[in-house]
Amino acid sequence: MSSQELVGLAEVADLANVSRTVVSNWRTRDNRFPTPVADLRSGPVFDFDDIVKYLMRRKKAVAQVIATINLKGGVGKTTTTIGLAEFLSAEFGKKVLVIDLDPQTNATTVLIGEDRWRELNDRGQTLVSLFTDALRRAGEDASFDLDASLQRQVSPVKEVRTVDLLPSSLDLIDVQDRLASMPSGQFYSDNPTDLLRRAVKPVLNNYDYVLVDCPPNLGIVTLNGLRIADGYIIPTIPDVLSTYGIPQIQSRVMSFADNIGETIHELGIVITKYRSASTVHATTINRLVDSEDLPPVFDTWVPEGNAIAASAEYSTTATLRQKYQYQGGYEVFRALAKEFISAADEIA
Ligand SMILES: Nc1ncnc2c1ncn2[C@@H]1O[C@H](COP(=O)(O)OP(=O)(O)OP(=O)(O)O)[C@@H](O)[C@H]1O
Ligand SMILES: [Mg+2]
Repeated sequence: MSSQELVGLAEVADLANVSRTVVSNWRTRDNRFPTPVADLRSGPVFDFDDIVKYLMRRKKAVAQVIATINLKGGVGKTTTTIGLAEFLSAEFGKKVLVIDLDPQTNATTVLIGEDRWRELNDRGQTLVSLFTDALRRAGEDASFDLDASLQRQVSPVKEVRTVDLLPSSLDLIDVQDRLASMPSGQFYSDNPTDLLRRAVKPVLNNYDYVLVDCPPNLGIVTLNGLRIADGYIIPTIPDVLSTYGIPQIQSRVMSFADNIGETIHELGIVITKYRSASTVHATTINRLVDSEDLPPVFDTWVPEGNAIAASAEYSTTATLRQKYQYQGGYEVFRALAKEFISAADEIA
């Protein structure tokens, strides 16, 4: 008779390199989680082989897609998306794809610079081609080339080596309007919120995380981003006007998710441009944290700072410490990325 090796929840957490809370969540939410061999006074115990098999299945699972949304402009959506992407890559060894859905192309130019973006734009190697394909008449050739558009190993920070990008274009504004007025059924897709999903499907699972930087609206282009999202974060400046629209975002995302029969989890609110001297910021954060209805607030608050503002420039540095600076952005974004990983694990 072979002896059976048993493990408890703490060992499962160690094996998977996650916290006990995350393992408890898997147990309650994932029906693939093995059933315990016995329930001891110290807690349930599991067959070691069952646990390893389960963890391998989880690992094989798929990229997590997280959208960055706020209906308010200029609240740090892009800065947060890029910071997360760069830290998840260089500090935590994750493979990340950034999808820039904003016609302002900020995430794109931060990651590849304006010159390279212009070349790609001239050659039609941006997400705009993906959306214009949907506007073509039957029989016309599609022009979006995923392989040519996908920019590999982007970021001007040398130690960031595993961030890829699907670039945006200013022409997305025009496309957005035309898609919105598209009579359904006339073209190859009668569901224009499904275009991005179909196009990126072949590459999505090459990544640990796919971060979708959205424009400050919930138009069709943003909905294409939400269509592939497992969850979303809401960066916000902690003031009255910036946080005003959060319940509306929650309800719109929820009803869209219901519509497509998926769950899009609220990962959390990211406090940006925080000023410790501001009483408005302090009271707003308290209100957000205390609210039962709003998404959870990440413990890491991104302070307003020069190094973070300068991070929007495309200029080459060797390390994230140089780009984001000590006691400014570096520690903060590192902590935020760590929290992000735990929050994403909990919805996996
Ligand atoms: N923590 C910060 N400290 C100082 N400046 C910041 C900080 N975060 C963002 N900024 C600056 O504020 C401006 C807006 O930030 P960002 O582009 O990230 O916002 P956004 O929400 O993506 O805007 P949009 O809605 O236009 O896409 C940028 O100039 C950015 O450099
Ligand atoms: Mg932006």
